[in-house]
Amino acid sequence: MRKLILAISVLALGASVAQADVVKEREALMKERGKLVGSLAKVVKGEQEFDAAAVLTALKALEANAEKTDIEALFPAGSDTGDTEASPKIWEDMNGFKAAEEKYLQATKAASAAAPADVDALKAQVGAIGKSCGGCHETFRLKKS
Ligand code: HEC
Repeated sequence: MRKLILAISVLALGASVAQADVVKEREALMKERGKLVGSLAKVVKGEQEFDAAAVLTALKALEANAEKTDIEALFPAGSDTGDTEASPKIWEDMNGFKAAEEKYLQATKAASAAAPADVDALKAQVGAIGKSCGGCHETFRLKKS
């Protein structure tokens, strides 16, 4: 019996470690999104010179980031506890959450496929991408106070 209890508590510990990893993994992907969009926003604001090749590299990186964001693997049931800003709404409306990520993925694809030739074109693309970040956060990310 003691052995069984020990085995169960070891399993439970394993599960919570795995959960912390998954939260870290999705937060790392989100941080990368934030960095990339931040670098593009600087160009849009004129704080950094428009360089078509550098802009396209950043857009492609955003697309790759979205492609590798596996919602089911990164947001398993029960991973709304602990140090996370993930809203319980994700698990109440997994289809809606997936749709928001899909919309975002399409926005990144459209942007890198169009390869903006000037700041105005980039501005429109970053606007569309930013809208889909914000749209998802609005519903599915808890605001940290
Ligand atoms: C489909 C929904 C969705 C989309 C689209 C989305 N995010 Fe997020 N984002 C989340 C969720 C959910 C969290 C909270 C994750 C957690 O704490 O476990 C988050 C967290 C973050 C964080 C905080 C990460 C941390 O270290 O805690 C940043 C920064 C971020 N997102 C940036 C972005 C940017 C920039 C974009 C668009 C380029 C974007 N996100 C698109 C759902 C989304």
